[in-house]
Amino acid sequence: MDFRLTPEHQMIRESAYKFGQTEIVPGLTERDREGKSDRAILDKMGQAGLLGVSIPAKYGGTDTDYISLGIVCEELERADTSARVVMSVHSGLHCMTLLQWGTEEQKMRWLPKLATGERIGAFGLTEPNAGSDASNLKTTARRDGDHYILNGQKAWISLSDYADQFLVITRLVDSDAKAPYAAFIVERTLEGFSSRPIKGKLGVRAGNTGEIFFDNVRVPKDCMLGEEGDGFKVAMSALDHGRYTVGAGAVGIITACLDASVKYANERTVQGEAIGKKQLVQQMIASMVKGRDVGRLLYYQVGWMKNEGLRHTRECSMCKWVNCEAAFDAAHKAVEIHGAYGFSDEFPVERYFRNSRGAMIYEGTHEIHTLMQAEYELGYRSDKPLKHTLPAWPLEAELTNAR
Ligand code: CAA
Repeated sequence: MDFRLTPEHQMIRESAYKFGQTEIVPGLTERDREGKSDRAILDKMGQAGLLGVSIPAKYGGTDTDYISLGIVCEELERADTSARVVMSVHSGLHCMTLLQWGTEEQKMRWLPKLATGERIGAFGLTEPNAGSDASNLKTTARRDGDHYILNGQKAWISLSDYADQFLVITRLVDSDAKAPYAAFIVERTLEGFSSRPIKGKLGVRAGNTGEIFFDNVRVPKDCMLGEEGDGFKVAMSALDHGRYTVGAGAVGIITACLDASVKYANERTVQGEAIGKKQLVQQMIASMVKGRDVGRLLYYQVGWMKNEGLRHTRECSMCKWVNCEAAFDAAHKAVEIHGAYGFSDEFPVERYFRNSRGAMIYEGTHEIHTLMQAEYELGYRSDKPLKHTLPAWPLEAELTNAR
């Protein structure tokens, strides 16, 4: 076992950190206050190569391993959750799932443009009445010759107004498939597709979230990922990628809380000394350090399992669950350390507090992950190897070329 990051990982960490601080942080307080997302940031992320992370070179990506994706998420969320959400949705839920389930033709068709940011991908599973109960889908797909006709609605869709294509999970009607679900790549330009933003969110206010609607949308058959009946499995494996990015990003919130709290605790004095000298403040700082360091180990482990081509649903759920709780706890403590200043957006910690709460809901609530962990331990939930896994890193083809 080797816990060292490679020089390439270090470089990726530094450049993602720099990108976050120079391209995301300026103007963020105003964007967050006004609930405005900035589309231009997506283009900048594409130009910086961030949207191609963990996509193999043969599909136009930066050819970096899956741990790199976690590192980018950590450093971007250190700047703002809205930037990490882009990685979660575009890279994790969309591109990694395409890499896992797509035919060679589908990967060649979509990944090169996604890798550069020329196209943006998003994910549509959740519906107004299907959140934790993800299989209770009402959006339908009905076969009609070489097409499927989609009808229905998805809710809480990140990048709903910006994405060019969506990985959409539907219920199949009139199908003999073993499970009544199918997954499709649906392009925004198809007739009958529309989107609408959601306003008034508690957090991630500088990010775009909304609803998407399908009114007799005709999707070509060759846009289906997997086969009829695979849709729910595609969704669950997408969450293996999305949850990884959320768990890694949560470490970035903790680091941001530490950045702000250490600075404040060293500058702010009470009774003639820095508040950092007070043991109760030290206890809070130590607790954040614990969350950060444990959190990194958890996501590095998941990234390593992805590199090895191993199933990692259980470990990923643990990483997402533990790290998101630790991030919320760290943000709560950061507000505490800042006192009244922590209650104002003059300092960033109130934003960390609001943003970290969201991550305990999306991509599997606190309760869902609690149940999953108990069910694995009790032997009620299967952890058997999957038929379709993310290709181990590096891809066999690239190993062969390198030999
Ligand atoms: N990869 C591939 N296949 C998988 C899988 C995975 N990770 N996990 C399960 N499967 C397969 C199983 O093997 C099983 O197949 P077989 O029938 O052939 O054995 C099938 O999928 C069904 O699996 P389960 O029996 O485990 O399914 P379940 O009904 O018990 O799942 C649940 C229950 C785990 C709670 C699931 O409903 C769940 O995860 N709910 C939470 C949903 C969620 O996280 N939603 C977030 C939405 S996305 C979002 O928030 C993004 C955003 O934009 C902000």
